[in-house]
Amino acid sequence: MWREQYEFIVRNTAEPIDMQAFCEHACEKGGESILKTIYAHASEIISNVYQHAPSGEKHTVKWFYDCRAVGNEFQVAVEDDGVGIFESLMKSYGSELPLETLLQPSNARLTHRGMGLSALLRDLDLKKVSSVIFQSPSGTVKMGGAASDSVPHSIAQGTRVVFTVPLWIRSI
Ligand SMILES: Nc1ncnc2c1ncn2[C@@H]1O[C@H](COP(=O)(O)OP(=O)(O)OP(=O)(O)O)[C@@H](O)[C@H]1O
Ligand SMILES: [Mg+2]
Repeated sequence: MWREQYEFIVRNTAEPIDMQAFCEHACEKGGESILKTIYAHASEIISNVYQHAPSGEKHTVKWFYDCRAVGNEFQVAVEDDGVGIFESLMKSYGSELPLETLLQPSNARLTHRGMGLSALLRDLDLKKVSSVIFQSPSGTVKMGGAASDSVPHSIAQGTRVVFTVPLWIRSI
């Protein structure tokens, strides 16, 4: 996990999702002005942890979140120690597709893809979100952001999703 750069709040999928606690934490860290945008995406990403991270033999998984302001950006990280996003997508759509294609809703084979990640990628296109990183043991996909932005080399287990929102864009 990306412990070096965050002070992660540890949760377990046996507990209900507490988005109020997430919002309070985000505000404490300086995200109040863009709370609506980060709430919309974080709630989808966290729902995905509950829906997709547990596997047959592992019904509950540990998960983590943290937020921080970095210059003019607000960064949100959600991680879990479950089955892995690319492992899950490959199971659904085949392992021969590039990882980035698996995430793209426009691919004809992926017409039944869900709404959660589509909304995040749409906001990336609209520049309401400035960068997104998806990572699991099968690999890393980084979209947007500066080439110099630090990305952890790999993750041994589970899923890491990190997105950044420009702090000068207000949620409407
Ligand atoms: N934390 C995760 N662990 C494992 N797989 C994940 C995780 N997050 C997402 N996925 C995979 O990515 C897919 C797409 O997620 P997305 O949120 O776009 O759609 P969905 O959750 O299937 O549907 P919806 O969000 O509309 O309810 C999921 O179906 C799942 O296969
Ligand atoms: Mg979802």
